[in-house]
Amino acid sequence: MNYNFDRLVDRRDISVKYGTPGLLHPGCKLPEDPIPMWIADMDFACCDTILQAIHKRVDRLTLGYENPVTPAYLEAVCGWMLRRHGWEVAPEQIVTCSGAIDALKLAVTAFTKPGQKVLIQQPVYGPFGQTVTACGRQAVDNPLVYRDGAYQMDLEDLERKAADPDTVLLAFCNPHNPVGRVWSREELEAVRAICRRHGVLIVSDEVHCDIIRKEKTFLPMGMVDPGNVIASTTPGKTFNLSGMKLANIVIADPGLRERFLAVRGGKNFPNPLAAAGTLAAYQSCDSWVDQVNDYLDESFAILSRRLPQAMPKARLVPPESMFLAWIDLHGYNMTDRELCRLLVEEAGVVPDPGTHFGPAGSGFIRLNIACPHSVLNEALDRIEKVFARL
Ligand SMILES: Cc1ncc(COP(=O)(O)O)c(C=O)c1O
Repeated sequence: MNYNFDRLVDRRDISVKYGTPGLLHPGCKLPEDPIPMWIADMDFACCDTILQAIHKRVDRLTLGYENPVTPAYLEAVCGWMLRRHGWEVAPEQIVTCSGAIDALKLAVTAFTKPGQKVLIQQPVYGPFGQTVTACGRQAVDNPLVYRDGAYQMDLEDLERKAADPDTVLLAFCNPHNPVGRVWSREELEAVRAICRRHGVLIVSDEVHCDIIRKEKTFLPMGMVDPGNVIASTTPGKTFNLSGMKLANIVIADPGLRERFLAVRGGKNFPNPLAAAGTLAAYQSCDSWVDQVNDYLDESFAILSRRLPQAMPKARLVPPESMFLAWIDLHGYNMTDRELCRLLVEEAGVVPDPGTHFGPAGSGFIRLNIACPHSVLNEALDRIEKVFARL
């Protein structure tokens, strides 16, 4: 079956992306018809198979306490990991919770003490640092290095900071949001070795792992060091199911799993509708994901082709993964506020400001391009009108 990602789905009255873009840029006046290109969900309709499974579950007429984490559910999750990533996950290694950030919070609570240090690698998804701080721990930055338009890890700095006896956990992101890197085997091996040398546990956020450019291969951190990794996977980004709030956390080591479960609590069962959708997704929606990846490859091709004319001084960071473009606007020599004001007020396009990902994000924007190509082209037309002359 062919899916139609060109279809415009009107979700202006139900989506955070459409409902509250003003909150993102305080002080900016929104035009009447802004094109929101920020928070990371897709404008595409979910796969019919998933929606039908949820309908079918509703038709059972009750939604009481139940445990939808059945053997079939676990088998579907494990089947996906094996088929798509060559990752052998045993059903008993999976612990569900309500999201990747919930998992980070649980891991920080389970494996660190108040005041201890958790490494993050900025620019990175803002809630990493916020979660660590909200738990009363210290977020310590091991900043990524931006050189010649691309990002790498600073492994020497990582080693130095991991060696601090107060550092007990690394909140890792693979693929990395927002810079889009899909870390290579060599890079993952280096992180594994450093963390092992210094007794640092890795919480690997892999929520973007299924949306990958064709020439790239995602390697799960859980395959590199099963005994020292808490790996967060969710169907949210892959199938546009983020509102379902269901994550499958893979913890191969039984001791680590027990400690994580002790904090999560035993009878913490997922929402049955979310589980029904997730089961269907992992069981039989491979083709939807293949097609959405093809569509997004084309979206990035449009962006790369048009950006030099629309925003001549912009530089697109090589998009190895995700549906999020990380764009370097230092060439415009403007403040973040001024850049966003031009984009929001004059162009009518609402990006995520780069500073949401830490100070290292200053001078960048993140654009969510998981929208029909017609919308992407309209956004680029609008940007061109304002930025081509600057
Ligand atoms: C890297 C990363 N982790 C976690 C999340 C949020 O995931 P969840 O809703 O499962 O907490 C996002 C959402 O954009 C993300 O980009």
